[in-house]
Amino acid sequence: MSNEYEQFLTNSPKLVNRVCLGDDYLSDGYWMTAAPSIARNDKLGDPMFDSLYQRQESQHWGPSEQDLTGDLSSFKLASKADIHAFNSNLSYQMLLDSTNSLAPLSIFGLFTNRQDLIDWLSLWSFSETIHSATYSQFLMTAHPDPDKVFAATQTSEFIRKRGDSIGHYYNNAFFWGMQYALRGNVFTKEELFECAKALRLAIFAANLLEGVRFYLSFACSFSFAARSDNPLFTNNALLLKAIAKDEALHLVGTQHMLNRMTSGKEGNLLEMVSAHTLEEEMRMTASVIQEEKEWANFLVSEGDIEGLSLKDMHQYLDFIGYNRLRSVHQVSDIPSIIVPELENPFSSFMMPFLQSDQVQTAQQETGSSGYTQGIDLTIDRKSLASQYFSGYSKEALSQ
Ligand SMILES: [Fe+2]
Ligand SMILES: [Fe+2]
Repeated sequence: MSNEYEQFLTNSPKLVNRVCLGDDYLSDGYWMTAAPSIARNDKLGDPMFDSLYQRQESQHWGPSEQDLTGDLSSFKLASKADIHAFNSNLSYQMLLDSTNSLAPLSIFGLFTNRQDLIDWLSLWSFSETIHSATYSQFLMTAHPDPDKVFAATQTSEFIRKRGDSIGHYYNNAFFWGMQYALRGNVFTKEELFECAKALRLAIFAANLLEGVRFYLSFACSFSFAARSDNPLFTNNALLLKAIAKDEALHLVGTQHMLNRMTSGKEGNLLEMVSAHTLEEEMRMTASVIQEEKEWANFLVSEGDIEGLSLKDMHQYLDFIGYNRLRSVHQVSDIPSIIVPELENPFSSFMMPFLQSDQVQTAQQETGSSGYTQGIDLTIDRKSLASQYFSGYSKEALSQ
């Protein structure tokens, strides 16, 4: 046995033969603390992750549920500007979902041993693979030569830039997650801090991805389908509606993870790290809003898009971006960002798509703490999941 392997057996906090069979772990945090646990859905430290799992499972769908060939006629009706925006958004969404299918389980999973969280991370990752496969299928259906659009994803300066800005945080977390999995038990204080910081910032980057980066594309697709004279790409919009419903659930998950850290529920280290990273998170938010505004400029570079002015697109991004920041920090802790109270300029056509079938964003945005309350575990878990999410207020849906 090599020396390195012996060290790993001594120093890794993630060895599978050290599964904790008791319920001592219930009082621990979810990240960088507990021993590996078996699946105990009868006793949950925090019922949210199990509820997210149940909800995601209950809304499972696949790309084959819509006949996308029905949208081919839209290419004849659409303007050059519409088609440019439509194709560009598809390419970008495919990159985001492909990237995000890696992160939850392969990267964030390195930092936890808690089975209910790992179950959620697994289903979250799986859900992202359905999304990227859906975009891929649409491109293959809609384009006689899909190679060109796939290639554009690789070469687009805007897409690569945004892929890199997400990848920076995911790669750093991957590095520290690997270190933690190998020798986390003997980390120095400084290493523990850097490791926790890498985790926090990567989940914050995922929060911006789930809660901001997807939404301009949703706005375009829903606006095309909502046109009163010639609705465009309506079958695609139905699939995007299903995707938006999933992304809203993922956003609930990232916000909940971040809020547990900020509030001290994940222990002193992650609480301290959350205060320390606030400035960087403000910079990240401003930077993502700016990148998405540049993307909006690119979307209209072939001409105006009916119903979507560039000014409104920029306002929408400010509105949604800063709301996401406020959802994971106390407003009083965000002194250097002065953002006027903004209206959502797209609520009229977004709401019918986002509200129907209860597509919901995180309830933390309205200050509710209902999700932290105790629950009756004697009731059926599926009905528990629907009960759990039914209290979301309408204000939270306006994004
Ligand atoms: Fe996705
Ligand atoms: Fe997602």
